[in-house]
Amino acid sequence: MSIPATPTSRAASAEPAAAASSAAAGPAAAEVPAPAREAGRRFPDGPAPDPAGSRAEHRVRSFHARRGRVTPAQKAAIDRFWPRWGLELDGTPLDLAELFGVPDPKVVVEIGFGMGDATAEMAAADPGTGILAVDVHTPGQGNLLSLADRLGLRNLRVANGDAIVLLRDMLPPASLDGLRVYFPDPWPKARHHKRRLIQPEFTALVTPLLRPGATVHCATDWEPYAEQMLEVLSAAPHLANRYDGFAPRPGFRPVTKFERQGLAKGHVVRDLVFERV
Ligand SMILES: C[S@@+](CC[C@H](N)C(=O)[O-])C[C@H]1O[C@@H](n2cnc3c(N)ncnc32)[C@H](O)[C@@H]1O
Repeated sequence: MSIPATPTSRAASAEPAAAASSAAAGPAAAEVPAPAREAGRRFPDGPAPDPAGSRAEHRVRSFHARRGRVTPAQKAAIDRFWPRWGLELDGTPLDLAELFGVPDPKVVVEIGFGMGDATAEMAAADPGTGILAVDVHTPGQGNLLSLADRLGLRNLRVANGDAIVLLRDMLPPASLDGLRVYFPDPWPKARHHKRRLIQPEFTALVTPLLRPGATVHCATDWEPYAEQMLEVLSAAPHLANRYDGFAPRPGFRPVTKFERQGLAKGHVVRDLVFERV
């Protein structure tokens, strides 16, 4: 399957088909300070500063409220490519065929792509799979859009908001071929454990969305969280561990930014691969 560069249903493309390289992020680019929240939207046609979902619902959130500082290059990528490849997680049910521009697409959701370098690399290596990458991190959204342009990716969509809203309200049953959660925030303090993403409530949302044979792939460098993931995923009905305990590191998963930081601290990295049965 080849996924064309179809604009998403949520926004008409304001871009020519030819991708420009001017939006490429430069590592030495100067940072611009984030304006105060009350100053309104930084990106008139870009991701919402406070995506709908958990805040309005007063739900415990698995992410930090901080949105981060956005470089001019990241802002340029958002201004240019969000109307084409961006998606707001506003709770409206999604038509994945329309989103990726192919009938019955193979789709993998990645929750928490951070800066998105590993996400872009995996999307480039697997052009027949639609990657729906979710995060609230605005600099990362800009970086990933910039990479998508630079690498000519046509199978990547970048979603802004709480992944729980996507899983709970927006995806049809049995629509996903995979779910990836790499180095989710570990929330090490006991009083913050309730913020961890991988919980029984999470797997209850996820499993009905998976097609038979679809995989749930998680990785973490925080040993207590790895144990929690193993316990939660093992207890989930309709999920079977592909391995006896933790999985060997799959060759297709590049080293992520947070993984690199964990390795530098001497942490052990654990992968977990479960299959929808
Ligand atoms: C520790 S970072 C890891 C980033 C990346 N996977 C890596 O390994 O470098 C976790 C990311 O998950 C995102 N995140 C956490 N909970 C989320 C949620 N419910 N919805 C969307 N993004 C979430 C955070 O914003 C953050 O960027």
